[in-house]
Amino acid sequence: MEYRGYDSVGVATESNSQIELKKGTGKVEEVNSKIQLDSLPGKIGIGHTRWATHGKVTDVNAHPHPSNSGKLAIVHNGIIENFEELKKQLEKEGYIFKSETDSEVIANLLQKNYEKIKNVKDAIIKTVSELKGNYAFVAMFENGQMAAARFHEPLIVGIGKNSYFLSSDVLGFIEQTDNAIYIENGNFVLIEKDKLEIFDFNGNIVKQQITKVSKEFADAYKGDYAHFTLKEISEQPDIIFKSGENTKNAIKNAGNHIKNSNNIYITGSGTSYNAALIAKQILAKYAKIKVDTIISSELQFSSQIIEPESTLIAISQSGESADVLEAVNIAKKEKCKIISIVNSLTSSLARESDFIIGMNCGPEIGVAATKSFTSQIIIIYKLVEVICNGNFVIDYKEISNAISKILENHAQVRNIAKEIKEISDIYVLGRGVHYPIAIESALKLKELTYIHAEGIAGGELKHGPLALMDSNVFVIIINPKDSTYSDTLTSAREIKARGAKIIGISDEKSDVYDYWIEIPKTSELTYPISETIPIQLLSYYAAIEKDTDPDYPRNLAKSVTVK
Ligand code: F6R
Repeated sequence: MEYRGYDSVGVATESNSQIELKKGTGKVEEVNSKIQLDSLPGKIGIGHTRWATHGKVTDVNAHPHPSNSGKLAIVHNGIIENFEELKKQLEKEGYIFKSETDSEVIANLLQKNYEKIKNVKDAIIKTVSELKGNYAFVAMFENGQMAAARFHEPLIVGIGKNSYFLSSDVLGFIEQTDNAIYIENGNFVLIEKDKLEIFDFNGNIVKQQITKVSKEFADAYKGDYAHFTLKEISEQPDIIFKSGENTKNAIKNAGNHIKNSNNIYITGSGTSYNAALIAKQILAKYAKIKVDTIISSELQFSSQIIEPESTLIAISQSGESADVLEAVNIAKKEKCKIISIVNSLTSSLARESDFIIGMNCGPEIGVAATKSFTSQIIIIYKLVEVICNGNFVIDYKEISNAISKILENHAQVRNIAKEIKEISDIYVLGRGVHYPIAIESALKLKELTYIHAEGIAGGELKHGPLALMDSNVFVIIINPKDSTYSDTLTSAREIKARGAKIIGISDEKSDVYDYWIEIPKTSELTYPISETIPIQLLSYYAAIEKDTDPDYPRNLAKSVTVK
């Protein structure tokens, strides 16, 4: 589960009615080789990989958190909003807190309630009634009982042959079983020996519904590739044909719905938001449909712009980004229809949507989004195909071949990566639809290389950024031979005159480029994807040159499930 956070890790097990616990900072393998998490005794246990929200990355802040008595331990995802209040109260009652986390209050609050009530089920009901915020937590008691509660954070039970699994994602147990129960919001699970029961927060029993989850998730291995990121970049020629193939009807229905919709908004975070910026331009240019894009985390501050009964297209690889879910929540209050473009069809976002379009690009483990971005653009093209009723034609084979050709050229990109590794600033410049690609490229460079990078709209250069150009910076010019070509070339010359080094990504060679990365000559709509690939490769190889881990950039998490 490291893709959800990887700054620290811990495991607690129950053995002979005692809780044994080990935890430390670093990735799972690093910590395990230091303190042998896998040597803990027992048949049941809880484990957690952390992405710090409250409290620094330290051993003591890592999960699991034992309660004061050591009679139970918990792991928690999410944020307990009233933790300070609860902590103060518990401290007054004599509880001692070891960590700076919000999560530790769950352990001590549960201990307090359990000691008073002496029954796990009622102790959980009392505890959840006192917690405010978003959470999924699992508590393990020294007598071997387990309890897990869900409130606005995912919680899924895997049903194995002689075992149960509790996880925030099916990836946590897919190697063991594909039978899953998705726990609904405001429900909790009790497991005692071989008995599993589900209740709502009032204590009423809830019917268990077992779902078969897709085996495609089992593809989460890097095979012969050195890193998931490289594997995922390399999968893109195939992704072109796979994207949306699992939800063809949804694309048709969503496309027809968009045609008849009054107001359309598109939201997302990070790379998925950059795909929304591309969607805005493609929809306007080819389908004559005007849409507003809103960064998911910003929607709550401008919710008034959402007209009632509109359509919100939510783009999210994971379908678990808390900001995106919050944006959907706001739109649903305005009775909007939700179209999701999502990789995980069983994610929280998919479950909130009226139309679910699957990216179908297989699990993306590398923290930096690569193939999911390409897949999102393909889905946008497919939607526009439906909207334009045959008057918009995409040559998917051409896109796939273009990517393959660029990938073959990786050695050249790797050489350029050697040149940029010591640089402290990189700018990426593009016009029109290449501007969102410039923003996305800068995001990839930042995440993977830790080099400051910025996407610039070509025409904006003279309105400020030109002041930054000197011989210490590199500028990537995204310049395919389309209607933006000659203006962008002029910008490149203006930059060159200030001494900056220029990497040109183009199907046309120019003497202005210090380094030319050739992309194939193609139709206009292939360019946004083909020009993205060399920058993904450049970012990946620069990370390798800098000896940082491209799969797990510092301070980040793959699914950001907190707001
Ligand atoms: C960028 C990146 C992040 C994600 C963002 C949204 O490489 O990985 O910016 O794009 O956190 O994630 P999803 O698409 O899962 O909602």
